[in-house]
Formats: sequence, structure tokens, C-alpha cells
Amino acid sequence: MTETSPNAENERESVRLRRPGKQDAQSLWRLVCANETLDTNSCYLYLIQATEFSDSCVVAELNGEIVGFATGFRPPKRPDSLFVWQVLVAPAARGKKLAKRMLSYLVRHGDGVQFVEATITPSNAASRALFASLASQLRASIGYTRCFETTDFGASGHEAEELVRVGPILERE
Ligand SMILES: CC(C)(COP(=O)(O)OP(=O)(O)OC[C@H]1O[C@@H](n2cnc3c(N)ncnc32)[C@H](O)[C@@H]1OP(=O)(O)O)[C@@H](O)C(=O)NCCC(=O)NCCS
Repeated sequence: MTETSPNAENERESVRLRRPGKQDAQSLWRLVCANETLDTNSCYLYLIQATEFSDSCVVAELNGEIVGFATGFRPPKRPDSLFVWQVLVAPAARGKKLAKRMLSYLVRHGDGVQFVEATITPSNAASRALFASLASQLRASIGYTRCFETTDFGASGHEAEELVRVGPILERE
């Protein structure tokens, strides 16, 4: 499933959203390794995401290069929900609505998705703004609840994570 469109700011920039495949896992892993916000995982995990979970994942290509991705899954206990595991846009490609477009793509192509969930650290202003903007576009409510405390992460020193839940979704476009 592929969507293409010219970028409004620069007609020469071509954005393409599509499902990831096995061949994309290394690109996702490299993007995560280069970022300072998200936890780094093994390349193996991105291989699993790009193959076994590709129906709930999307990559964004800008002029043929992968510059962003969103990975997720459908929680078995909440089949009407899409849990966004990681969403990342390379610094040079930020501010072009790529993250919001990727999440919209997952909602639009996710069979029966009524809610979008993720966990977010309280300090991640960009991520909070992203989900607020998504909720507004989908004409959906947005709520935050406590999820993982710092102590849940043991000695790693990881910041607490809140669960954000967007939905029910009233507008899918
Ligand atoms: C969060 C992230 C994915 C946003 O990517 P992006 O493509 O630049 O975001 P978008 O252009 O789609 O912006 C979506 C909305 O969020 C807002 N936003 C994005 N970055 C923002 C920032 N740093 N501060 C405040 N608002 C921000 C935009 O203004 C837009 O709101 P609007 O539609 O009301 O105008 C990107 O900053 C990133 O990769 N950060 C590091 C990884 C991360 O934190 N991921 C999220 C963890 S769940």
C-alpha cells in the first residue's frame, strides 16, 4: 500500500508512504541509532517489525530515501486499538507533517482502528504536540494516564512514561 504526494513547500520534494519490508530494517535501525530521544533496539527487532508487524508499520520516503517511520502493533487485548511503538523523523525532515501523515496512514489503512495509543515521556513536547494534532485531525478525544514509573525501569534511569490514548476516531481522512 503506497501513497505519494508532492510536498507543498517544494514541488521537487516527493513524499512516499508505504509499508516496510525486510529490506528496510537496517534503515530503521540506523535512524534510531542516530537519534537521541528514542531507545535504541537491536536490528533484529526492526526485522521483526518490518516483517511480522508490517501491517501496523509505515515508512516515509523523501526523494527516495527513508527519512522516517512509525512502528506499531494491534494489542491482542484491545483489537480496536493501534499501539504506536516508535515514531521517528530524521532531524532534516522534521516540520513537514511527515509524522502526522504516517500516523494518519496507519489509521486509514488499519482495519477497525478506533483508538491510537503510545507511551510518551512527560518531557517530550514534540511527541505530545504530535498526538494532540492527530487527535484534532481525527476529531477524537485525547487522554493521558500513568503507565510506567521511573522505578519500573530499574537502574536504567529511564524517565517515566505516560499512556496517551486518542479516540474514538470520528474522522479518518
Ligand atoms: C516527534 C517527531 C516524530 C515529530 O515529527 P515531525 O514530522 O516533525 O512532526 P509533524 O511535522 O508531523 O508535526 C505534527 C504536529 O506536532 C507539532 N510539533 C512537531 N514537533 C514539535 C516540536 N518540537 N515542538 C512543538 N510542536 C511540535 C507540529 O507543529 C504539528 O502540529 P500542528 O499539526 O498543530 O501544526 C520528531 O520530532 C521526532 O522524530 N522526534 C524524536 C523521536 C520522538 O520523540 N518520537 C516520538 C516518541 S513517541
